[in-house]
Amino acid sequence: MANGPVVLSSASPDETRAIGERIGAALAPGSVVLLRGPLGAGKTVLAKGIARGLGIEDEIISPTYTIVADYPGRIPLAHVDLYRVEGATQIANLGLDDLLAGPGVTVVEWGEKLEPTLRGRGAVRVTISLEPDGGRLIVVEGLAS
Ligand SMILES: Nc1ncnc2c1ncn2[C@@H]1O[C@H](COP(=O)(O)OP(=O)(O)O)[C@@H](O)[C@H]1O
Ligand SMILES: [Mg+2]
Repeated sequence: MANGPVVLSSASPDETRAIGERIGAALAPGSVVLLRGPLGAGKTVLAKGIARGLGIEDEIISPTYTIVADYPGRIPLAHVDLYRVEGATQIANLGLDDLLAGPGVTVVEWGEKLEPTLRGRGAVRVTISLEPDGGRLIVVEGLAS
């Protein structure tokens, strides 16, 4: 991933998926991707693209109720959704440390909730915001390890 932030705009879910696919294709084993943005921003759409970029054929569904969903692939993917998880204790109780330290790629929706506990682990942060015309602004940046 580039060092400075990369700013992209997406006019459709397909474009967001394609951006995710490019991100996924560039990820190394063990990468952590934190997705930020309001409900309906397109985090799950982007995660589907990332999965495709990792060579995952399975359909990705939002893991809101399961919190973590695992998918086998060239690099295995753990798709995490922290929407319903609040506070450092609840986050710690999920036992994500092993996942984050493992060889797979971890993509985290509502990833800002995990940032305080990353403790200097490098990550890719993707922030999605809605533009007045209904498009999405997508900012991709590396968090230093
Ligand atoms: N440019 C765009 N990128 C992504 N999603 C878009 C875009 N334009 C419209 N949408 C719609 O917004 C919704 C995003 O949903 P989702 O990915 O589940 O959001 P989140 O996971 O952030 O809550 C989908 O219904 C999608 O069709
Ligand atoms: Mg979602």
